[in-house]
Amino acid sequence: MNAASGLPRSAPEPIKMVVDGASKFYNTRSGQVHAVDNVSLQVREGEFLCLLGPSGCGKSTLLWSMAGLHGLSGGQIRLGEDAITKPHPEIAMIFQEANLLPWRNLIRNIELPFEIKRQEPDRKRIEALLKRVGLAGFENKYPRELSGGMQQRASIVRSLAVNPSVLLMDEPFGALDAFTRDEMNLLIQEIWMETGKTIIFITHSITEAVFLADRIVVMSARPGRISNIVDVDLPRPRPVKLQTTTDFLERVEAIKAMIDHRPS
Ligand SMILES: Nc1ncnc2c1ncn2[C@@H]1O[C@H](COP(=O)(O)OP(=O)(O)O)[C@@H](O)[C@H]1O
Ligand SMILES: [Mg+2]
Repeated sequence: MNAASGLPRSAPEPIKMVVDGASKFYNTRSGQVHAVDNVSLQVREGEFLCLLGPSGCGKSTLLWSMAGLHGLSGGQIRLGEDAITKPHPEIAMIFQEANLLPWRNLIRNIELPFEIKRQEPDRKRIEALLKRVGLAGFENKYPRELSGGMQQRASIVRSLAVNPSVLLMDEPFGALDAFTRDEMNLLIQEIWMETGKTIIFITHSITEAVFLADRIVVMSARPGRISNIVDVDLPRPRPVKLQTTTDFLERVEAIKAMIDHRPS
């Protein structure tokens, strides 16, 4: 990957994940909901891909299916040769809520995925990650003693501790205040540049998508479809002040127009 150099790509990266004709219907008491309609997508190895769209357009449905947490009604999702029909050891998911267990301290929360798999925790890796996200020294704190941003840092450590190659993030910073969100956006950009993980990140913030993404998949509402895929070739690392530049604001406006003028 060449994210660290900030240079334009000379050759496209290999494909990491494939979404092939994905459709999803939910059966509800008031009838069927067509949440995702025939979505096909190729996620490149090591890219930062944002899924952007209005609330209810099927972003979470698609991402949960990519995590193997949801079955599709039609189509297929693959990671390499593996069809994803259940959780996969290479794929980790981060949600809007940090989902830390309140009765476990920070380190015991982070070790939980190892316990579930009956594996010895990778203590060296966990220690390095805690240091990396600024949580060293907080190992014995309980979730209620940590701020929202710290809790979300802990959930990032918990996901990365098992060393997945794909990180799926469902509006992970949506519940945080604007300052903390900026901090977390910088942190996730840095971690991504350092580790070369493939990240698929859901947001309904156009600004957040333009700031973070290599490519933005713009979805339209009900049933969820891909309306556009936008390349974001801004050099990295991207500083927060980039968000006030004319170039950045023009990109945001262009995507806003796509969403406002989507075909119905
Ligand atoms: N478990 C469910 N049962 C029934 N309908 C659902 C369920 N989950 C999501 N939906 C519906 O599917 C559509 C897409 O939802 P979702 O994937 O959560 O969208 P987004 O994440 O873009 O807000 C919405 O209309 C939502 O109400
Ligand atoms: Mg959602």
